Amino acid sequence: MADFISLPFYDLVHENGHVPGIREKLPPILAGVKRSILEIGAGTGLITTSLAEWTSAEIFALEPSAGMRGVLLSRLTARPELLKRVTVLPYDALSLDLDEPVEAMVMINVLYALEPGYRRRLWPVLAGRLEPGGLLVFTWRGGDAPAPHPLEKLDSHQVGRHTYSVFAEILETDAEALKCRYLYQVTQGDKVIDEEEIIGHAYRPRWETLQGELVGAGFVQADAPEGLLAWRLARGPESP
Ligand SMILES: C[S@@+](CC[C@H](N)C(=O)[O-])C[C@H]1O[C@@H](n2cnc3c(N)ncnc32)[C@H](O)[C@@H]1O
Repeated sequence: MADFISLPFYDLVHENGHVPGIREKLPPILAGVKRSILEIGAGTGLITTSLAEWTSAEIFALEPSAGMRGVLLSRLTARPELLKRVTVLPYDALSLDLDEPVEAMVMINVLYALEPGYRRRLWPVLAGRLEPGGLLVFTWRGGDAPAPHPLEKLDSHQVGRHTYSVFAEILETDAEALKCRYLYQVTQGDKVIDEEEIIGHAYRPRWETLQGELVGAGFVQADAPEGLLAWRLARGPESP
C-alpha cells in the first residue's frame, strides 16, 4: 500500500485541503441513501462525521492504519451520539467482511494508494458486498500525470510557535504511476524541530482502464461532479 501520510499533519493539511470540496459535492450524490454506507479508507474521520450528518444511515468506516483509526475513534468519542451508528472496521478493503450488503460505498482519496493488481481485485469484492443497484462513489482525476519536479512547498500551517510545512517532489512518472517524495517539517524560526520523509508510489489509472475494470465487475456509470466518479451495481453478484 502506498501512503504519503504523516499522521500528525493529516487533519491540519486536509481539513482545508480536499475536504471542503468533497463536503460540497458528495451530499447530492448520496441523497436517498438511508440504510447503510461503507466508507473505505476513512482515515481520521474527516468525511465519516459528515456522512453521519448528511444521512441517517448506519456507517461502516473501514481503515487499516491503526494511527489513522486512533484519530477516527477520538473524533467519534467526542460525538457520543455517533458512537451508536458508526462501526470501525480495522482492516484493508480486500479483507472486507460485512454481515449484509450495504446500500452505498464511498472512497475518498484512496484510489491513488492502491497498486493496480490490488485495485483490479477490489472491484469484484466491493460488488459482492453492495446491494443490487447500490452506489459506489470515489475520487478520481483524469489527464496526464504531472511531470517530475524538484521539492516544492505545498502547504504551511502555524501551530502556536511552530510552523508545520509539507513539501513534495515527483521523482519519476510513467503512464499510471508516480514516484513521489514527501517531506513533513516542523520548524520554529530557522530551527527544524521535527522532520519526516516519505517516499512511495501513487497510482493514477487511466479512464479506459478504470472503466473496463468497473464494467467487468458489474458496475454502470452514474452522474457525478468533476473529481468524483459514481457507479451503480447493475446486477447481483450471483447473476450470470
Ligand atoms: C489520503 S487518506 C484519505 C482518508 C479519508 N478518506 C479522507 O478523505 O480524509 C487515504 C486513506 O486510505 C487508507 N488506505 C490505504 N490503502 C488502503 C486499502 N488497501 N484499503 C483501505 N484503506 C486504505 C489509508 O490508511 C488512509 O487512511
